Amino acid sequence: MLEQIRQATTYIRGLSPLVPEAGIILGSGLGNLAAEITDRTEIPYGDIPHFPPATVEGHSGKLILGRLGGRPIVAMAGRYHYYEGHSMQQVTFPVRVMKALGIRTLLVSNAAGGMNRQFRVGDLMIITDHINLQPEHPLRGRNIDELGPRFPDMSEPYAKSLVAKAKDIAAAKGISLHTGVYVGVQGPTFETRAEYKFMHAIGGDAVGMSTVPEVIVAIHSGLQVFAMSVITDLGIRDEDNVITHEEVLVAAKAAEPHLTYIFSELVRQL
Ligand code: HPA
Repeated sequence: MLEQIRQATTYIRGLSPLVPEAGIILGSGLGNLAAEITDRTEIPYGDIPHFPPATVEGHSGKLILGRLGGRPIVAMAGRYHYYEGHSMQQVTFPVRVMKALGIRTLLVSNAAGGMNRQFRVGDLMIITDHINLQPEHPLRGRNIDELGPRFPDMSEPYAKSLVAKAKDIAAAKGISLHTGVYVGVQGPTFETRAEYKFMHAIGGDAVGMSTVPEVIVAIHSGLQVFAMSVITDLGIRDEDNVITHEEVLVAAKAAEPHLTYIFSELVRQL
């Protein structure tokens, strides 16, 4: 693993001398933030040693090094999901590489199903905590001490200081936000009605198929983490509901400008 990280990092440094301060993972339908990045170098995942190719619709699959709000960043346009068949080590490999490139902060976005009855489609939720219901763990196996500790503390994976900053940024711009707990599941099925109810009962406000593995590895690596969900569908509501991937992408697109604004401002203020 250390050698694979080294090879990927060396390849990327050969194409861009930029040393990023922050990494940004862009979720389903949320890739437009990439358009705001200046002085950019784009690297298709397929070109980077040990990066698996991305497969899902709405995920274009490239690493972008450049500047956002004047600050050097690296962004992932497209991410890896466990349900695609990748191992958890593969899903989180880019986080290891971004850390090796120099980032100290990781910003993560995703599309998620709402379970909190206050939520509406298109709302934004800052993730303040998570519940990991994914069936595999990215840190299972021999611990590589150079990368992080065997038993990482997870009492506060989402940096309170960044949550507070994001709230201030949103309030100053009149953007309304929720905070809540994200439940990470495997997918690729959306949840049954009983499953949404169960996840709400155990303390979840939103559910999605990503983010948790990357955040775990970011914490293992000693990174500061901020994450935000766009609520693209509602799992708990009175009328019947059928959820489609298309509807998720449409809702994500509509909410994207606010998410992009908050992420850009957060980076500027890091
Ligand atoms: N469930 C799981 N993942 C999701 C959902 C959902 O309702 N919406 C977007 N991603």
